[in-house]
Amino acid sequence: TMDSEIDKLVATVSDPAERKGFEMEMFSFKQMFSRYIFRTKQGTIKVDWDKISSLLPDQLISYEKLARPTDSTNLSKLAVLKLSGGLGTSMGIHGAKSALEVKDGQTFVDLTIQQIQHLNKAMRTDIPLVIMTSFKTQYDTIKVIKRYVNDPVRILTFNQSRFPRFFRDTMLPCPKTAEDESRTWYPPGHGDLFLSLSRSGVLEQLLSEGKEYLFVSNSENLGATVDPTILQYLIESESEFLMEITVKTRNDLQSGTLVNYDGSLQLLELNQVPSEHVENFKSVFNFRTLNTNNLWINLKALKRISDNEGLDLDIMEKLRHLDNGRVVVQLETAAGSAIKHFRKACGIIVPRGRFLPVKNSADLLLVRSDFYQLDDGCLRPNVHRPFQTPPTIKLSEDFRSVDELEARFKTVPSMLELDHLTVAGDVYFGRACDLRGTVIVAATERQRIDIPDGSMLENKLLSGNLNL
Ligand code: UTP
Repeated sequence: TMDSEIDKLVATVSDPAERKGFEMEMFSFKQMFSRYIFRTKQGTIKVDWDKISSLLPDQLISYEKLARPTDSTNLSKLAVLKLSGGLGTSMGIHGAKSALEVKDGQTFVDLTIQQIQHLNKAMRTDIPLVIMTSFKTQYDTIKVIKRYVNDPVRILTFNQSRFPRFFRDTMLPCPKTAEDESRTWYPPGHGDLFLSLSRSGVLEQLLSEGKEYLFVSNSENLGATVDPTILQYLIESESEFLMEITVKTRNDLQSGTLVNYDGSLQLLELNQVPSEHVENFKSVFNFRTLNTNNLWINLKALKRISDNEGLDLDIMEKLRHLDNGRVVVQLETAAGSAIKHFRKACGIIVPRGRFLPVKNSADLLLVRSDFYQLDDGCLRPNVHRPFQTPPTIKLSEDFRSVDELEARFKTVPSMLELDHLTVAGDVYFGRACDLRGTVIVAATERQRIDIPDGSMLENKLLSGNLNL
């Protein structure tokens, strides 16, 4: 069975101290696995669609209506946590997404550190930056952090769990030893943050330093800046958990959303939706908002819940198809699904600028472009852009990985006056191109289009076998 196979894995660690840590980690995995088996035996791991209803207006708070704070004393009780453990598979990344360069040779991690440093200086406070890494991203992340050892900012890191993938047919783990190949293991989603924060001792450390609130966000969301207004609301409303949500656009139809589930607030991810309701889930008419993954958490409440009833989170099952036809399973959880465990939890509708995700190459291209300017580590729409809405960018599969993206754009084109860009097929952009209005470049099969250095394309449709 799974349990005895996991025990065998534990026995492959010879160092007693190391074995103890690994055993604890595997204990958490066993618990998750047995909850998964229990749920699948009951029928399905997916949600019961009949229990879901959309949120009522009075369950949501509007950011615009919040009172602005008059002083900054609350900031001394805050810590910031960046999630940086993900695999970045959808962008073909092998290390950490947060260690990718964004602008001026600086990575997401650099820019986040600058944001915090600037805030600490401006507000005369000392907010520590905590970064959650995984066995996949630790090396890259720490390499960046090392540049700041002599700076005043305090940076803490901890590694999240490493769980074994397992075969769907046999239900047995993929790794044969604790040190087996890295692709037999995975970081089990950002919901693992709660467990790993406690296990690493960082939760205790923050509490002992008088930190009472934690602001969590995705490391590549540079829009997720510390907002004293939201912090004040968190404190005054005595809400133990706030989830920032924002209005969906056409590009966000797959994103998780906040719903009423059996009468209480719950995060609903696409992965949890029974297949016959997927279209329903994606409809902006039914679910207008998305989870930004910017979360504000009361740390004492987190400790109370962890010490008592525990924080069981909804399990999502992700399948991977191997070349040999076998299917492997990884079980994951999402941080936002913890919302149901906290008192007075609520969703707060924030402006879109607080959610600048980088989920694919098109997002990365936009963040790297001159559409955004840097301002103390924050991304702001370029003041020289005539229109404030960001351009829509669609790139075909040929641009999927970061390596392909970089090979196909010698430099990032100017997008100051771009409204819409679609590129499909074997297309290469030269240096310093300038794209304006609506630009569509589509190479047909077995054809290649090269856009020369310095080209200016304005309201252009290029398609077929064109060589300019
Ligand atoms: P994403 O949902 O974008 O997932 O994570 P991902 O794993 O990075 O990318 P894909 O799905 O493999 O392409 C949102 C944030 O949560 C972090 C990521 O690093 C990212 O900042 N994350 C995700 C973790 O910290 N741990 C995880 O196990 C998963």
